[in-house]
Amino acid sequence: MSKLKSKTVYLCSACGNDHPKWFGQCPSCKEWGTLSEYKVSKNRAKGDYGQARETQKLEDILIGGEVERIPTGISEMDRVLGGGILPGSLVLLGGNPGIGKSTLALQILPAFQKPALYVSAEESESQVGLRARRLEVQSNTLHLSSENRIEGILDQISLIKPELVVVDSIQTIFSSELDSLPGSTSQIRECGQQLLQLTKQLNIAVIIIGHVTKEGIIAGPKMLEHMVDTVLYLEGDERHDHRILRSAKNRFGTTNELGIFQMKTNGLVQVDNPSELFLAERQNDITGSTIFPSLEGSRPILVEVQALVSNANFGTPQRNVNGFDFKRLAMLLAVLEKRLGTNMGTKDVFVNLVGGLKVDDPAADLAVITAVASAARDQLLSNSVVLIGEIGLGGEVRSVSRLETRINEAKSLGFKTVIAPAANVKRISKHVKRIKVSGISSVGEAFQILF
Ligand code: TYD
Ligand code: MG
Repeated sequence: MSKLKSKTVYLCSACGNDHPKWFGQCPSCKEWGTLSEYKVSKNRAKGDYGQARETQKLEDILIGGEVERIPTGISEMDRVLGGGILPGSLVLLGGNPGIGKSTLALQILPAFQKPALYVSAEESESQVGLRARRLEVQSNTLHLSSENRIEGILDQISLIKPELVVVDSIQTIFSSELDSLPGSTSQIRECGQQLLQLTKQLNIAVIIIGHVTKEGIIAGPKMLEHMVDTVLYLEGDERHDHRILRSAKNRFGTTNELGIFQMKTNGLVQVDNPSELFLAERQNDITGSTIFPSLEGSRPILVEVQALVSNANFGTPQRNVNGFDFKRLAMLLAVLEKRLGTNMGTKDVFVNLVGGLKVDDPAADLAVITAVASAARDQLLSNSVVLIGEIGLGGEVRSVSRLETRINEAKSLGFKTVIAPAANVKRISKHVKRIKVSGISSVGEAFQILF
C-alpha cells in the first residue's frame, strides 16, 4: 500500500548515525566515505512501531525480586555473563571466523529446558546436525533453522516461543524490506533493531553472532555494539588451541571476567586451571622469562612474560610487544636506562605475554622490567619466583590490589618465592604460609635479590 512509501537517509558504517543527505565525510564521526543509502519505511520513520507498551511501577518491579538468570551449562560462559544469561537481554558474540563461535553457541543451547532456537543462516540444518553429533549435544527442546530472512526468523520465534535464540550470524541475515545486501550497514542495523525489539517485547534472550574484521572490530557498524546489552569476544591464537572469552560491555555484570576454553575434537572444553595451561610449555633454562600472577576479574592466572633483547643493527631500535601496553613498556625501558643504568638505547626489545593473554594491570610492571633486564644482562633467574608490583618513574615499587589472592595462586602451583611491594607485604605477611614473600620498595632492591 501507499502507506509503505519509504524515506531515504544516509547511514554511516563507522558510527551508525544517519543523515538526511549524503556527505563524503560523516558529520558525526568525521570518517570519510562511510555513508551509504538506507531506506526507512515511512511508518517506521515516524516512529510508529505499533501500540505503545504499558508502563510499569518501579515498586512492582522491586517486589518481584531479582530476575533469575538462566545458567548456560558452561560455567566459564556464565562467569563472563555475570552468572548466566538474563531473559530479555541481547548479547553480541564476536570473534574471528573459525575461532569457535558456532561451536560455543551449539554447546550452550542444550542446557535450556524450555525450547531454544538456533538460526544458522551460514550452515544448513544437516551441517549443524553433524556438528551437534560431533559435539555429542543432545536435546529435545532445541530447534534448528536455516532461515535467513529476519521476517521468517521472527515468525518462527512467535511459533516456537523459545527461551533463547541464537542468530548465526548477523552478517548473513537480511530484511526483505530493504534492497541492500546481507552484511551491509543498513541490513545489520535493521536486523539488529528488529531483534532488539523482540527481546524486550517477548522477554527472551537473543545471542547474535558477529564476525570480526581484520582490524578486530565486529564487522558492520559500531552501533550494533551500542544496541546490545552485552558484547562478548571469543579470542584466540591460531597457533594455540585455547580460547579466551571476554566481555567488552556488560549492562548486567562486570567486564573484567574471563572464560578460558580449549578447542578439542569434541568442542570447547572449559579450563579449570588456566595457570597450568599458560605455564605448560615454560622452559626453565632461558633468560628473559618471568612469572606474573595476573588477576582477571575474580580469578588469578599466572602468566609467563618473555623478553628478548638484541643489538639494533641500524636505524631506530625496534620495540615490539604482545599482550602488554606499548607505552608502558617504553616507560619501563626508560626507568631501566635512567634508574638502573642498563643501556637500552641501541637495543631491540621484544616482549611477549605467553598464550595470547592481554594484561593491562600495572602490577605486571615488575615482571616485565625484570624479564627485560634478565634478557639484556643474559642472566638466568630462579624459576620458582613470581614478581608483582607497579613501577613509578623513580624506579619505586608501588602497592597492588589483592596481593593475597595472587600469592595463593602462585603457592598452589608450587612457586617458592614472591617478590612484592613492601607496602603490601607489611599488611599481609602474617597470613601467608609455606611461601617466602619478600617485600621490596624499589626495582633496584628486587634486582639485588634476583641477580
Ligand atoms: P566454528 O565454531 O565453526 O567457528 P566460527 O563459528 O567462529 O566461525 O569453529 C570452527 C573451527 O573449530 C574449525 O577449525 C574446526 C574446529 N573445531 C574443533 O576443533 N573441534 C570441534 O569439535 C568443532 C565443532 C570444531
Ligand atoms: Mg560459525
